[in-house]
Amino acid sequence: MLGTISRRAHPRLGALLGLVILVAGTTVALSGAGATAAGSVTQQPSTISKEPWGTVDGEQVDLYTLTNSNGMEVKITNYGGIIQSIKVPDRDGNFDNVTLGFATLDEYVDHNDPYFGAIIGRYGNRIANGRFTLDGVTYQLAQNNGPNHLHGGVRGFDKRVWTATELEQQGIVGLRLNYTSPDGEEMYPGTLAVEMTYWLTNRNEIRMEYHATTDAPTIVNLTNHAYFNLAGEGTGTIEGHFLRLNASHYTPVDETLIPTGEIAPVAGTPFDFTTPHTIGERIRDNHEQIAFGRGYDHNFVLDRPSPEDTSMINAAQVFEPTTGRALVITTTEPGIQFYSGNFLDGTLVGTSGKFYRQGDGFALETQHYPDSPNKPQFPSTVLRPGEEYETTTIYRFSVRNP
Ligand code: GLA
Repeated sequence: MLGTISRRAHPRLGALLGLVILVAGTTVALSGAGATAAGSVTQQPSTISKEPWGTVDGEQVDLYTLTNSNGMEVKITNYGGIIQSIKVPDRDGNFDNVTLGFATLDEYVDHNDPYFGAIIGRYGNRIANGRFTLDGVTYQLAQNNGPNHLHGGVRGFDKRVWTATELEQQGIVGLRLNYTSPDGEEMYPGTLAVEMTYWLTNRNEIRMEYHATTDAPTIVNLTNHAYFNLAGEGTGTIEGHFLRLNASHYTPVDETLIPTGEIAPVAGTPFDFTTPHTIGERIRDNHEQIAFGRGYDHNFVLDRPSPEDTSMINAAQVFEPTTGRALVITTTEPGIQFYSGNFLDGTLVGTSGKFYRQGDGFALETQHYPDSPNKPQFPSTVLRPGEEYETTTIYRFSVRNP
C-alpha cells in the first residue's frame, strides 16, 4: 500500500501521491499545510533553528524550533528535554498547538508539577515506598509522591539541562539530547549516560529514540510526558476524544497508585479501550480503580505476541471528532500509562494564557510497568554494564474525516 513508501526518501513522490494513505481501512491525510481540500500540495524544506530561552543554574537553555515539509512545527527545549509546543493541522488545514505547556522557561522551572512535555527518568512512574533491592543491596529513593517515588525523584531528568545537538539527515531534522546522570544522583546506583533523540519526520511523526548505558547495575525506565488536547491546548476537556488502546490487560493499583502485581483483563470494565470509547464515557463509573486514580491513571499491558517481544507496535490511537485530528502512538515498550489529567486543578496557566482544569489534557506514557523493580513477574527494568538500553516511541499526527 502507499503507506509503505518511505516519505523520508521520496518526499516529492509522496507529494505527487497526494499525501493520502490508507491506515486500517481509514483514509488519513498526512498533512495539512499542503493537503488542502482541493488536494493541492505545497512542500517546504525541513528546518531547525534555536533561540536563547534563559539559564538554569548558570547553564544556557535554548528553545529549538523544528519544522517539516508539511509545515508541522515542534518546539523543544534542552531544559528537561521538554516538548513545549506541537502545531499540527486540523481537517481544514488550520494549525493549533495540541500539547499542554507553558509560555516561558521560568514557569517550567517554577511549577512544572504535571511534568508537561518532559523526558522522565531515571525511573518513570512509581516505585513503592521509594525502595528497591538490586543484587542484594537495598536502595532508598526520595518519597516524593505520598509514600512512593515518582518520575525520578525530587530532581529527575525533567529538571536537568541537557546537551543539545541539531541534526539534519535525509531531508528531516532532529534534536539529540545527552545527559549523564552521576552515580548516586537521586540515590540511584551507577553513572547513567543517556542519549535521547527527537526526529520530526515528513509523515508528521515525532520519533523518540532513547538510549542509555551504565557503569554499574541500575534501573531505568524512560518516557516522555507530553499531554495532548487534539482540539488545541487550553480549549477545555479531552473527554470527547475517542481512545483505542491495544491492551486487553492492565495493572490494577492500590490507593497510592502502586500496582497490586495482578495483570487483570480489561473486558467488562471502564478500562476496556480495545474498541474506541470516548475518554469521558466511563470516567465517572463507580469502579474502585477509577476511584483510586480519580479517573484514569493506569498502566495498560500492550498486547504482544510474547512478553519478550520488543517490535514496534501500535499502542494507542486517539481521534478528536470536532477537528478531525488523530494521534497514533507506536512503541517498542511493553506498557503505556494512560493518565486523564486528573490532578490538573485550575491553578496553572498554560501556553496560550488559559487555566488548565481537570481533564483538559491527557498523557499516554509508553514505559515499563510501574514498580517493576519490586515486581519480579513484570518485565525487568534492570540495566547492567555492557548492556544497551534502547527504546523507541513515535507520536504520529494525521487528520480524518468523520
Ligand atoms: C503521571 C502519574 C500521575 C501524575 C502525573 C503528573 O502520569 O501517573 O499520577 O503524577 O504523572 O501529575
